[in-house]
Amino acid sequence: MVQKQISTRTTGNRFKNAILIIYYLLESFVKMFIPLSMMKKKNVENQNILITGGGSGIGQSMALRFLRLGAKVIVWDVNQEGMETTKKMAEEEKLNVKNLHLYKVDLCDSTAIYKVAELVKQQLGPLDILINNAGVVSGQNFLDIPDGKIDLTFKVNCLAHFYTIKAFLPDMIKRRSGHIVTVASVAGRIGVCGLSDYCASKFANIGMDLSLRMELAKANLDGHINTTIVQPYFITTGMFGGVDPGIFEFLKPEFVVDKIMQAILTNSVQVVVPNYFDWVLCFVPSLPHNCLSIVYDFIGGFEFMANFHGRNLPSKTMKTNGVKDEEINNNMANMINQNVVDNNHK
Ligand SMILES: NC(=O)c1ccc[n+]([C@@H]2O[C@H](COP(=O)([O-])OP(=O)(O)OC[C@H]3O[C@@H](n4cnc5c(N)ncnc54)[C@H](O)[C@@H]3O)[C@@H](O)[C@H]2O)c1
Repeated sequence: MVQKQISTRTTGNRFKNAILIIYYLLESFVKMFIPLSMMKKKNVENQNILITGGGSGIGQSMALRFLRLGAKVIVWDVNQEGMETTKKMAEEEKLNVKNLHLYKVDLCDSTAIYKVAELVKQQLGPLDILINNAGVVSGQNFLDIPDGKIDLTFKVNCLAHFYTIKAFLPDMIKRRSGHIVTVASVAGRIGVCGLSDYCASKFANIGMDLSLRMELAKANLDGHINTTIVQPYFITTGMFGGVDPGIFEFLKPEFVVDKIMQAILTNSVQVVVPNYFDWVLCFVPSLPHNCLSIVYDFIGGFEFMANFHGRNLPSKTMKTNGVKDEEINNNMANMINQNVVDNNHK
């Protein structure tokens, strides 16, 4: 799609490219030692920023952060109540709620996505930043996952990203400016028992982001249209209620959102939270399988999902490393998703 609309990159001379490769390698080596918090941030005041799944969890928190920075925040969510909570939180903080625009959209429905995207463009103009954040999890073993839940996971976590990007990227290309953020997961880099559909959808996010980034580079749009892929470990938003994070700790939503905001505002291509996981994830897949399963057992990987209940039960059994249950956002999003699945099955 990118290629269709603009002329493509012409291959430069080999000497120049070799120098550029050395320069960029040195630059990224130096950047490894500079915390993102110290890097120059872009100004998002008055920019149009769309966040899917902004009615709960980290999407809600990002919506408030961008409002604080003076951006125009467009929230898409299937959960109207959750979006109203986001608005209420903004009002309580005395943020400018005129800058908050709520649209009820079911991301399983591509027609609805394209229709509401047109409406947003008519009402607010083109997007500056698109954040595909909404997500669902089934949390069942491979053979137990109903087909409807597999479909739902792929529709929300993965296919919807293609439709939102197809709806908003052409304007970014015309303006030679934009940013596409994909909220994937550490589960997009490693397999997890009880998360096969979720992991597959998150691996797909990473493949999509990498391919899109290459198409943008081929079209000489790198540096003009940025992409950021976000890969956090388990967070106490309630989505993964009942999970045992093994030898690692659950992450607090505000900590994760700090890191995501820094990555977006510095146009970073990737953010892994916690950041040392990036090294772990590079190393783990290169282990021989029999080693991997021993390491996996050691870190508690076989039991991560053993007591998973998402938001469907009180999270009393949740090992939250000091995070109180009350801190866990318990809106009804997963139950709504459950209803969607149940209805699909009828
Ligand atoms: N919570 C974690 O441990 C964790 C870890 C890594 C990555 N992530 C990813 O981060 C993102 C946000 O997770 P969260 O923990 O804030 O989850 P959350 O459940 O708090 O928020 C997800 C939001 O997506 C919305 N949503 C679900 N289905 C939808 C649909 N069909 N149409 C429109 N909106 C829909 C929900 O209503 C909800 O508001 C997800 O993509 C998730 O996979 C979460």
